[in-house]
Amino acid sequence: MSRGWPRLAGVTRRDGLFIAFEGGDGAGKSTQVRLLAQALRDRGREVLVTRQPGGTDLGAAIRDLVLHGEHVSPRAEALLFAADKAHHVDLVIRPALEAGDVVLTDRYTDSSVAYQGAGRDLGAAEVHDLQMWAVGGLVPDLTVVVDVTAEEGRRRRGDVHDRLESEADAYHDAVRQHFLAMAAGNPERYLVLDGTESPERLHEAVLARLVAMGVVEP
Ligand code: TYD
Repeated sequence: MSRGWPRLAGVTRRDGLFIAFEGGDGAGKSTQVRLLAQALRDRGREVLVTRQPGGTDLGAAIRDLVLHGEHVSPRAEALLFAADKAHHVDLVIRPALEAGDVVLTDRYTDSSVAYQGAGRDLGAAEVHDLQMWAVGGLVPDLTVVVDVTAEEGRRRRGDVHDRLESEADAYHDAVRQHFLAMAAGNPERYLVLDGTESPERLHEAVLARLVAMGVVEP
């Protein structure tokens, strides 16, 4: 079945499906990733669940440096997140898609555009170009944005703070507005969900979208 997959390094993806979950810290993405993975496995699909930063040994080391270390200069931060994704796509995501699997990722390139581009004032367009170069132009078939306000995200995160989570609400609000703007600019590739709804309702909305796309049985 051909659905106009992007060509990567001379290889056309076979039957794989690539879905990214994005949103602010504390939005509830990880729950949605878990529910969707289970629903797809129940339908007999091979599903790879991964997250960024992380997902490889190098990614785990980068994650530690960038989230739990000392201050990182904004451009270095953007390059570290890009390096994590380059390695991750090459070693994990692209091989799974070429094997025809479903790949669900907790965060992808839009996180960098929002957090480093908008949040850090590095310029969303530049960070987007850097990210696209890093991942060889691999774009998800669908990006689900689980949207909550900065205040709600902070309330849900409680006291656990990594370097980015502990940024002020204004930073998280800039990040949020950026996710929403990316989605509004490309509605056929995005699904925006109100993260204050119950996890079950959000999950139903994701499944309904995949059914509408013709990639999942009703
Ligand atoms: P994580 O613990 O995975 O948070 P969450 O459970 O909310 O996804 O931490 C990831 C953090 O890294 C999160 O604050 C967003 C940030 N991030 C970036 O700033 N740029 C990126 O490219 C990625 C992938 C994440």
